[in-house]
Amino acid sequence: MLQMRGITKRFPGVLASDNVNFDVRAGEVHTLLGENGAGKSTLMKILYGLYQQDEGEILLHGEPVRLNSPADAISHGVGMIHQHFMLVPTLTVAENVALGLQSGRAPFSDLKNVSKRITELSRSFGLHVFPDEYVWQLSVGERQRVEIIKALYRDASILILDEPTAVLTPSEVDDIFVIFKRLAADGRGLVFISHKLKEVLELSDRITVLRHGRVTGDTTPAQSDRHDLARLMVGREVKLAPDAHAVQPGEPLLVIENLFVDGDRGKHAVQGLSLEVRSGEILGIAGISGNGQRELAEAIAGLRPSQSGKITLAGHDTTRCKPRQIREKGLSYVPEERMKDGAVGEFDIKENIILLNHDKEPFCSKGFLQFGTIAEHSRKLVKAYAVKTPSIDTTTKNLSGGNIQKVIMARELSAGPKVLLASQPTRGVDIGAAEYIHERIARQREKGTASIVISEDLDEVMALSDRIAVMFDGRIMGIIPRKEATRESIGLLMTGEQQHGAKQRA
Ligand SMILES: Nc1ncnc2c1ncn2[C@@H]1O[C@H](COP(=O)(O)OP(=O)(O)OP(=O)(O)O)[C@@H](O)[C@H]1O
Ligand SMILES: [Mg+2]
Repeated sequence: MLQMRGITKRFPGVLASDNVNFDVRAGEVHTLLGENGAGKSTLMKILYGLYQQDEGEILLHGEPVRLNSPADAISHGVGMIHQHFMLVPTLTVAENVALGLQSGRAPFSDLKNVSKRITELSRSFGLHVFPDEYVWQLSVGERQRVEIIKALYRDASILILDEPTAVLTPSEVDDIFVIFKRLAADGRGLVFISHKLKEVLELSDRITVLRHGRVTGDTTPAQSDRHDLARLMVGREVKLAPDAHAVQPGEPLLVIENLFVDGDRGKHAVQGLSLEVRSGEILGIAGISGNGQRELAEAIAGLRPSQSGKITLAGHDTTRCKPRQIREKGLSYVPEERMKDGAVGEFDIKENIILLNHDKEPFCSKGFLQFGTIAEHSRKLVKAYAVKTPSIDTTTKNLSGGNIQKVIMARELSAGPKVLLASQPTRGVDIGAAEYIHERIARQREKGTASIVISEDLDEVMALSDRIAVMFDGRIMGIIPRKEATRESIGLLMTGEQQHGAKQRA
């Protein structure tokens, strides 16, 4: 279906694609694997007409094509699910799907039919997407499914899936894989991108490995296991699970008592939740997304009001405080939606690194920004966190997804937090960088930080946490010490099937 030949793409200071050959056959899932910044999204943005290659050619169904825009790509049957969602939050699902359709002159005049088709697609693929809901009300996982519907609606024969599973829960991943396999069986060609090797091995027919913009390997799940893939990607051996060394926990630094928080749809998203995290301890919060984790995190960070209950951070009542005041009391926050809540895309890297401290010593003195200090600090962090970028003056939105996450992580951890709240800290991050971020979070124990890690990745929660709290329907179903936790015991609590014997501490 597709042949990309000798594709080269340069950005200022970066060779993002270096003479890449890549092809997709009808009926297969072809995976692109590679570290953050390896050039996966770039190659796919070229195929989707978002970028134009400097050299090389693209053949679709044997014909050379010039793809100057996504509209060109769509008309050739290429669809793309982006790493960062492209939906308009203030429009409904149906309006978003209708946007940019061929009958572009009056895209909303035919909404009834669009809605009908969405409902059909949603039903036949089990996507649970409802045409009349507003996108701003939807969780990240739901938005993802809207993106998928949007591509299916346009009847894409080549479907580019740029980290579609990064935002899905394990059970949602299972469901979506059924859909992907069905789409492939239907004769479509799928390009799949993921940093989760388990998924890559489960779904792929073929795997192409990229490193620094170049193809460094071609393989299949039959030929390579997780360790082989990790080595091909990173070029060295990678520890696949971090060693944790526990520290004797100290005083409670975050205490939440009987907290109620409303969600976007009005109803209580957090319902009478209580928990406590101590200095030197990591509390993992497991659970299927949409069970109040996001609202809980936003309430702690002061981004969403609490209806009742109390949050005490490092001895201060912060329940009604502004985000800025809460930070000053010692909270670092790594939000789930990094481009919306975590960084300013238009700012360059150093500006994002000092984002919340630009008016403080040593970055600011007597009202003047200290450019030398800022640059030195930024360079140090970029190096320590292995952020792949030509310079600290690069516009942040031009970084690859995983590298943006590293910038946010670097800023938050270097603030010396008393309490660290990290949502999905390694989502979209390659295994080498995930290893590093895990190590950094684990090391916060020794600095006496109380950490909360919210993650849908059970492996991550189990590897990092001293205790694991499971959230379901806005409540804590149970808190299990890591040593006693098994995937099964957590899984049961996650579905709300069972409440943990020992009642959680109030
Ligand atoms: N519009 C742009 N302007 C400048 N540089 C860019 C632009 N888009 C991508 N790059 C650079 O090209 C390189 C490849 O980025 P790309 O987004 O393709 O990586 P990736 O493999 O998708 O990584 P990730 O796994 O983190 O998503 C990176 O160094 C990135 O900073
Ligand atoms: Mg990418």
